[in-house]
Amino acid sequence: MAIISPSMLSANFLHLQNDIDFVNNSAADWFHLDIMDGVFVPNISYGLPIVRAVKKTAQKPLDVHLMIEKPERYITDFKQAGADILCVHYEACTHLHRTVQAIQQQGMKAGVALNPHTPVEVLRDIIGDVEMVLIMSVNPGFGGQEFIPQSLQKIARLKEMIVQTNSQALIQVDGGVDTTNCRQLTQAGADILVAGNAIFCASNPSAVVEELKRS
Ligand code: DX5
Ligand code: ZN
Repeated sequence: MAIISPSMLSANFLHLQNDIDFVNNSAADWFHLDIMDGVFVPNISYGLPIVRAVKKTAQKPLDVHLMIEKPERYITDFKQAGADILCVHYEACTHLHRTVQAIQQQGMKAGVALNPHTPVEVLRDIIGDVEMVLIMSVNPGFGGQEFIPQSLQKIARLKEMIVQTNSQALIQVDGGVDTTNCRQLTQAGADILVAGNAIFCASNPSAVVEELKRS
């Protein structure tokens, strides 16, 4: 059974509480919150006040995906806002190891995200020190984009590295995930599926979450 983390970027911000309740009552496991700074990615999403607000009524862990430059500047802020898992981009960190340690010292699980062009091999010397690796299966910045098929091979190569090194890291996939590709993703080694549009734009979102969960 996969861990399902619905991306709140696709939620209805005018009725956010409804979508939080939906996730609380669904088969989903986490809340995926996408933070974009308009510099690392060409879009601005939402920030700390929304994370704080979601935390007030979320009954499941907050999985916070930072698409921001120099994320080490905000580790304490996101901890205080309620993040349980904090994921930074490899491409945004000069001292990734130090950043991962700082996240863990604050009592959060540390994740590292890779853009589509970044090979998984760059994580070989840190794979034993992280709780999660996020494979971006679209270019980060927007919901509702098309899944990049080469991501499947990356997941398989990452899985091989994790097994070889006895790492405990979980593999998360984010971008264009839906009920047509979820099974291939988990077969390749994905443990956690993020989905935004596939869930929140569906006519029956609960059924989609359940199908993703069974993959
Ligand atoms: C993209 C974000 C994703 C996005 C996924 O930059 O990191 O989490 O919300 O949305 P879908 O599932 O619609 O591709
Ligand atoms: Zn994301």
